[in-house]
Amino acid sequence: MNDNVKIKGMGYAAAQRRINNHDFTWLDTSDEWITSRTGINSRYVTETENTSDLALRAALSAIEDAKIDKHEIDTIIVATFTPDMQTPSVASILQAKLGLNDCPVMAFDLNSACTGFVMAFQTVSAFIQTGRTKTALIVGAETLSKVMNWNDRSTCVLFGDGAGAFICTQYASKESMAHFANSRGDLEDVLSAEGLQIQDISNARPLTGGTLKMQGQAVFRFAIDAISDGIRQVIEQSKWSLDEVDYIIPHQANMRIIAHVASKMKIPQEKFIINLERFGNTSAASIPIAMAEAKANGILKEGHRVIMVGFGAGLTWAASTAVL
Ligand SMILES: CC(C)(COP(=O)(O)OP(=O)(O)OC[C@H]1O[C@@H](n2cnc3c(N)ncnc32)[C@H](O)[C@@H]1OP(=O)(O)O)[C@@H](O)C(=O)NCCC(=O)NCCS
Repeated sequence: MNDNVKIKGMGYAAAQRRINNHDFTWLDTSDEWITSRTGINSRYVTETENTSDLALRAALSAIEDAKIDKHEIDTIIVATFTPDMQTPSVASILQAKLGLNDCPVMAFDLNSACTGFVMAFQTVSAFIQTGRTKTALIVGAETLSKVMNWNDRSTCVLFGDGAGAFICTQYASKESMAHFANSRGDLEDVLSAEGLQIQDISNARPLTGGTLKMQGQAVFRFAIDAISDGIRQVIEQSKWSLDEVDYIIPHQANMRIIAHVASKMKIPQEKFIINLERFGNTSAASIPIAMAEAKANGILKEGHRVIMVGFGAGLTWAASTAVL
């Protein structure tokens, strides 16, 4: 038997305001262009809630789904690149919002952009397998609307705000887990959002936040290779065949990217869980939102073998297997 990780509960939260493609009246774009190039019909954008608020809603729903006492949580990891503040971390803010201040909790954020949630799952799996963690809350939460240039039609139509969460615990199983992660830090320019600027302290000026910049076609090509590589790597490690995998949950960026991978790898498209048509790309939140929604809809079930595969800025990509 192997020390394995059980995803005991899942939850998700969409931001309050739904923006349909035809609502982008200030842009030179169309529903037809966005739908045909991306598969996205709508996305949710926050009006008042910050990243920790969306994370809280997703976390509460995952705790309820897992049927645990929230005080059992000893580890909180939030994958995000759009935190409420530079510091403290969203994970610490979330601990307070959950009312877990009197519990010993290891809380920290993890930034690997859209790959972040898979990295958080891999991190927490290592903690669980060494006994460091008994019950973990991992969250992918983003308010990407904060880093959007709302006049750039080539980026702002793609992204949305939201959060997805898992409760993970230890369990003994005959299956072993497979994890893979890789990074190409030299490709930083392909997808990036500036951070705080180094200041000339003798001539201090107001700080400005950075907006997201992207070379769309380069990301597109990278994404196809990244998803294919991630799937291949964990299939090889796990010794599963692709036929034995019930579902693949890719980062929800673009329908055409997923269709390319499906056709290139000869995987039926029905094997991919996809909800990007309604949520857009919610970065680190996209995989747990897709999984939690699929579980709530009765698509993902106990015992299913799944592969989660993420890719994003860094450039980074990662994949993990799990048995639900
Ligand atoms: C962004 C993306 C949809 C653009 O589609 P594309 O087919 O590559 O389009 P191009 O970039 O070649 O642009 C074609 C034209 O459409 C225009 N265009 C871009 N966005 C547009 C929009 N929302 N509406 C209308 N036209 C648009 C471009 O300005 C360009 O016009 P031009 O030919 O006059 O210069 C596509 O590259 C993509 O999805 N890439 C991956 C992005 C991604 O997933 N990022 C997140 C990764 S984590």
